[in-house]
Amino acid sequence: GVQTLLQLLPPQVFSQDHTNKRISWTVPCVQIEDKPRFRWRGLHIDPARHFQKKEDVLRFIDTMVLHKFNVLHFHLTDDQGWRIEIKQYPKLTEVGAWRKEDGFGLDPKALSFFDEKGRYGGFYTQKDIQEIVAYAAARYITVVPEIEMPGHALAALAAFPELSCTVGPFEVACGGGIFKDVYCAGNDQVFEFLDNVLAEVIELFPSKYIHVGGDECPKDRWKNCPKCRQRIKDEGLKDEHELQSWFISRIERFLNSKGKTIIGWDEILEGGLAPNAAVMSWRGMSGGIAAAKAGHDVVMTPTSHCYLDYYQAKGNEPKAIGGFLPIETVYSLEPVPEELTEDQKKHILGVQGNLWSEYIPNLSHLEYMAYPRACALSEVAWTPAEKRD
Ligand code: ACM
Ligand code: ZN
Repeated sequence: GVQTLLQLLPPQVFSQDHTNKRISWTVPCVQIEDKPRFRWRGLHIDPARHFQKKEDVLRFIDTMVLHKFNVLHFHLTDDQGWRIEIKQYPKLTEVGAWRKEDGFGLDPKALSFFDEKGRYGGFYTQKDIQEIVAYAAARYITVVPEIEMPGHALAALAAFPELSCTVGPFEVACGGGIFKDVYCAGNDQVFEFLDNVLAEVIELFPSKYIHVGGDECPKDRWKNCPKCRQRIKDEGLKDEHELQSWFISRIERFLNSKGKTIIGWDEILEGGLAPNAAVMSWRGMSGGIAAAKAGHDVVMTPTSHCYLDYYQAKGNEPKAIGGFLPIETVYSLEPVPEELTEDQKKHILGVQGNLWSEYIPNLSHLEYMAYPRACALSEVAWTPAEKRD
């Protein structure tokens, strides 16, 4: 309601400087009945690739609030960095939060997070996380943490190489790519580790959903690992895709036992979807359609409309990861596919814009990439389809 009132103010209210000059303004006298079309109106940020300090995350939340977003998807771990303090495993941040250098070739002047040894990175203490979650909650935003598995795990494996199939050694990745070294699915220690990590994570995040990643996990190591092959045999699985499905289902059982629901990228459909999982459909909408047809909840975030790390204009833009996604295309998204039945359509929880940060080193750049396209996505998330033009 307050955000709607703010939107009724004349634009000059927002362009006043902060002098004590008295200004007056009026708003129209109106009665508004309004409600959001979708329950999940999300933006995703990626401090794993370039760390974003706590104050910048809070500031990002402020702008989300103005646009009535209500979910912040917090991508906390990846090959290039582990960003959340875990008390039981201090090495995760002592080793995993830092890399030798930026590695993405960005302008050094844009980078600020180096430690005393000159390593590049950073992490949130549990106190920082509590502050971010509380700040968001006070503004009706739920923070959904993502702890990536089984792939995109090199930062964790740099700290604990024994959790991989080859036992390493590894370094935190400098630069992008899809790395072949992932958590070993045949090693019970991996699940002990992940359960312990997740146990601390769920204490910090009241969110019903915990994101477990699941995307882009190469199966090369699993194919050649005796422990992984033994697991496939013992569990009666067909192949490595079913092994990934088994992995995610194993984690789901733990999180369900703690009252949490898992959500993962659409690769978690391959080899069979975990029984209660929600799906984040990113490689187009087809994963989301398949999941909704199977009775699972879905967040639509297709690269075609929601990847706000793509170029937003032609011409002299700062370096981005690729693609081309102008604001008109974002605005044109219809998140509920026609081919679903009325009951299946109810499984579409909403939409989310993703701000992968390989080429986004700081808050001003993050805001440049997010807005104004997130304004368009905000309307997709809030406004009934027939009211959009
Ligand atoms: C993704 O963009 N790899 C989910
Ligand atoms: Zn293995």
